[in-house]
Amino acid sequence: MTEEIVKSALGTVTYPGFTKDIVTFGFVKDIQISGGDVAVTVDITSSAPEVAQQISDEATVALKKAGATNVSIAINAPKMPRESSSKGKNIAPQVKNFIMVSSGKGGVGKSTTSVNLAVALAMQGKKVGLLDADIYGPNVPRMLGLDGVKPEVAGNKVLPLKAYGIEMMSMGSLMEEGQSLIWRGAMIMKAIEQFLRDILWSELDCLVIDMPPGTGDAQLTLAQSVPVTAGVTVTTPQMVSLDDSRRSLDMFKKLHIPIAGIIENMSGFIAPDTGVEYDIFGKGTTQPMADQFDTCILAEIPIEPAVRTGGDEGKPVTYFAPDSETAKRYMKAAEDLWATIEKINAEGGVDNQAIQPNTPPGVSACSTSAAPQQQQTSGGSCGTGCGCH
Ligand SMILES: Nc1ncnc2c1ncn2[C@@H]1O[C@H](COP(=O)(O)OP(=O)(O)OP(=O)(O)O)[C@@H](O)[C@H]1O
Ligand SMILES: [Mg+2]
Repeated sequence: MTEEIVKSALGTVTYPGFTKDIVTFGFVKDIQISGGDVAVTVDITSSAPEVAQQISDEATVALKKAGATNVSIAINAPKMPRESSSKGKNIAPQVKNFIMVSSGKGGVGKSTTSVNLAVALAMQGKKVGLLDADIYGPNVPRMLGLDGVKPEVAGNKVLPLKAYGIEMMSMGSLMEEGQSLIWRGAMIMKAIEQFLRDILWSELDCLVIDMPPGTGDAQLTLAQSVPVTAGVTVTTPQMVSLDDSRRSLDMFKKLHIPIAGIIENMSGFIAPDTGVEYDIFGKGTTQPMADQFDTCILAEIPIEPAVRTGGDEGKPVTYFAPDSETAKRYMKAAEDLWATIEKINAEGGVDNQAIQPNTPPGVSACSTSAAPQQQQTSGGSCGTGCGCH
């Protein structure tokens, strides 16, 4: 056995949830070889025991296959407290991670994305809440089949509604049907604060927050009320949508919210009769924007009639058609999103309130949240570890 053989064998072991291997990431710290005996030390950023176990198992198999007789793998993982390590004001302290789903433009599929990501995360065993922070156009109740369902009140708090393993609250569930409201900035701030403080959310691994379109009071209030762990931007591939999405990504940067990735929605069309995928709005337009913001495309979600009917009928495609291509893409996006969140927490979490929102553009969320060593080892990525790097 030589160091070269060992490295090449370890180069086949991908870091769970990522496409890169543990050698490329720079996680292999020490290699000792004595005849056929090989001892390897690996430093990882995740505190999840299953991550360490998977790396250890796969590295052992790979080294034995390469000719080692005895293999010993020592894995150093950070000891992370159960709570999120994020700092700053948190008016909903029972929630460990906050995921802000934003877009520059309306109607691109934020609510559809929020619902399906939340359902996917719950299907992957996380305790998930979904906050519909779109005060003007709350659509989430319908998308979860909770249209017209009124929440219970417990003392001076309101119990979230439940569907498909997730907790949910929306202005739509509090208002009378068809009622429309004109909101001023101050009222929006109050409403968002109350959603976080006065709803009896359980101990949640994460709260997915479906934002109104744009970059206004709601986004700012949220970032000032809770430490937002990660931001996801939803876009469609047309140039006009991408222009607005840049503003959304820029807002994350200014608020020092790590960007977990972009969902390119309505990316091609899958014909229901043949299953053939057609490129309608143009492909390849989102990647340059992802590169510009040092982030990745978490998923390309095609236009699929089942996605819309799922939304209209309150039957999310991820839950009701788990074998569909779209559901699989949402599941993969949720996995990658979670890997990014784990990485952000392992590296010390976020503190998006330490910096005022008028920080000049160009100050990257990544540069404050990621350890320098991590930035190097993640192969030129943003350092938040989006799964596609
Ligand atoms: N991939 C898709 N395939 C088919 N229909 C889709 C897809 N994504 C979204 N839709 C449909 O497009 C419409 C708009 O989506 P959605 O409500 O999620 O957008 P939004 O960004 O939340 O809009 P708003 O800015 O009004 O809140 C909905 O009817 C939804 O079902
Ligand atoms: Mg919406």
